[in-house]
Amino acid sequence: MKLFIDTGDIEEVRRAAEWGILDGGTTNPTLIAKAGKGFKETVLQICEAVPGGAISAEVVATEYELLLKEALEIASWHPQIVVKVPLIEPGIRLVRTLSDKGIRTNVTLVFSVTQALMAAKAGATYISNFVGRGDDMSADGMDAVADTVARVENYQFESEVLVASIRHPLHVVQSIQAGAPVATMPYKILEMMFKRPLTALGLTRFL
Ligand code: E4P
Repeated sequence: MKLFIDTGDIEEVRRAAEWGILDGGTTNPTLIAKAGKGFKETVLQICEAVPGGAISAEVVATEYELLLKEALEIASWHPQIVVKVPLIEPGIRLVRTLSDKGIRTNVTLVFSVTQALMAAKAGATYISNFVGRGDDMSADGMDAVADTVARVENYQFESEVLVASIRHPLHVVQSIQAGAPVATMPYKILEMMFKRPLTALGLTRFL
């Protein structure tokens, strides 16, 4: 399973990238705003911090022509950039256009297999299936992820299911068990994955 970091904080990306296990990064407008730096500057710094990694940068327009203009501009910034597009009607149309031009896309805000089907048919590179926000609505977010992973594989779509909105390490365990090709998570979760009391105890004894 590929590991992406989900943040707009370049220092977090640099720290995680030092471990040598990062395959990419995802951002969204909220994360970029929270980090407090410019959008383009942040995305380019993340690309540099994760050489060769797939770095998702999200469009914010909601009308097709504006979306297209914005997407082409973002895609021109760096070859590692993947254009992140919300699953709305003009968004799906945009994914088809970008896919036909060979521009990679990450379809975001996906919560069901039917939405995932549309993203896959439009040629999405990644399908961001949200877990935590599903759980927040008293649904089982991981159920939809596992179902989507199985169906995308079943129909042999080339899109990769990217588990997003991960809130704790158990979501990572469940993503692995579902056979998800990619998972993105905050720095805090990546860090928590190191923590095992028996590892800490064992190290203390060894030392
Ligand atoms: C990733 O692409 C998403 O933007 C992110 O995982 C959303 O996470 P949240 O639901 O915890 O905000």
